[in-house]
Parts: sequence; C-alpha cells; structure tokens
Amino acid sequence: FAFDAESEAEIATILVKYPPERKASGTLPLLYVAQKQMGRVTGSAWVPRVAMDEIARRLEVAPIRVYEVATFYLMFNTKPIGRYHLQVCTTTSCWLRGSDDVVAACKKATGISAFGQSSADGLFTLTEVECLGGCSNAPILQVDDDFYEDLDGPRTIELIEALRRGDRPKPGPTIDRMGAAPAGGRK
Ligand code: FES
Repeated sequence: FAFDAESEAEIATILVKYPPERKASGTLPLLYVAQKQMGRVTGSAWVPRVAMDEIARRLEVAPIRVYEVATFYLMFNTKPIGRYHLQVCTTTSCWLRGSDDVVAACKKATGISAFGQSSADGLFTLTEVECLGGCSNAPILQVDDDFYEDLDGPRTIELIEALRRGDRPKPGPTIDRMGAAPAGGRK
C-alpha cells in the first residue's frame, strides 16, 4: 500500500503534532487518511490490511496495534463498501421519530434487503448504527461523513436518488425546524 501525495501531505500535518516517542497516537488519524484515500481513488472507502501494515511501519508499532484499533471502531470499514455508505441510526430517539421508515426507504431505493449488504450496482452499502449524537434532529442518516437530519421515507428516497445522480445534497436538517411544520404535519 502506498499513500498518495494528498495523503502524504495530510500525514505530515498529523505526525508533527506528536512527539517522536508518541507517534503511535497517530493511529486513528492515519487510518482515517487511508480510508479516505481508498474512497477517493477506488470509490470504496475502506482500510485494507496492507494499509494497516503500512501505518504500523510508519508509526513503528506492531501491526496488531493498528489492527485492534481498526477493528474496534465502527467508522473504519475493514471490507470493501459501496460508493455511498448509508448508516441509519435506529437507537431510541430515531426509532421513535421514524427510523423504520428511513430503513424501509433505503432498502426500497437501493434494492438492498438487509443491513450489512451492498446494492447490486455497488453504489450503496446499508449499515445500522447506534446513536449518532444528533437525537434532537432524529431520525438521522449518515452518508459517509455527512449527517442528514429530520428525515422521513420520501425525503430519504429523494436523498438517495440525488446521490445516484452524482449530486450531493447539503447535509444537516432536511426541514426547517424553526419554521412551519412540514406539509401534512409532524407525525
Ligand atoms: Fe439517533 Fe441519537 S438516537 S442520533
């Protein structure tokens, strides 16, 4: 695995933050750089084993130290995923506010039948996640590193169709919570 020039520039700004004897502290950010590069270059943001080995070499730690971090945190994908990673929060606040509708819409719009699967065209992977820390704007769908809030079924389908067209709708609330209630009222 070789980091490209963009990643090398990022790595340089990361490693300068740590004293040489604490280089291992760069494990999380370097894993993130590797995952981002894979997404940028191959369209699938994941961290292959060879990238973990390269990070271990850079940080002068045993490879197991990098593997254990990469496999502990759910934000690192240790298997190839689709171009867009749909991560639906189904914890209490989101569930009470309609995450079942968001899940159903994700499945309908992508043809995916269960969590952990990717669409046949390789564009989408659907994952169930725990609380994303945005309960006040539940239900929430995280797409890669972007958070879409206050979703319902139809708005979820609109979002996925936009992604399929190559558009990237602005993350954040999908309704104006400070203004009028959405058409049809809140459920
Ligand atoms: Fe979904 Fe907290 S329960 S963001």
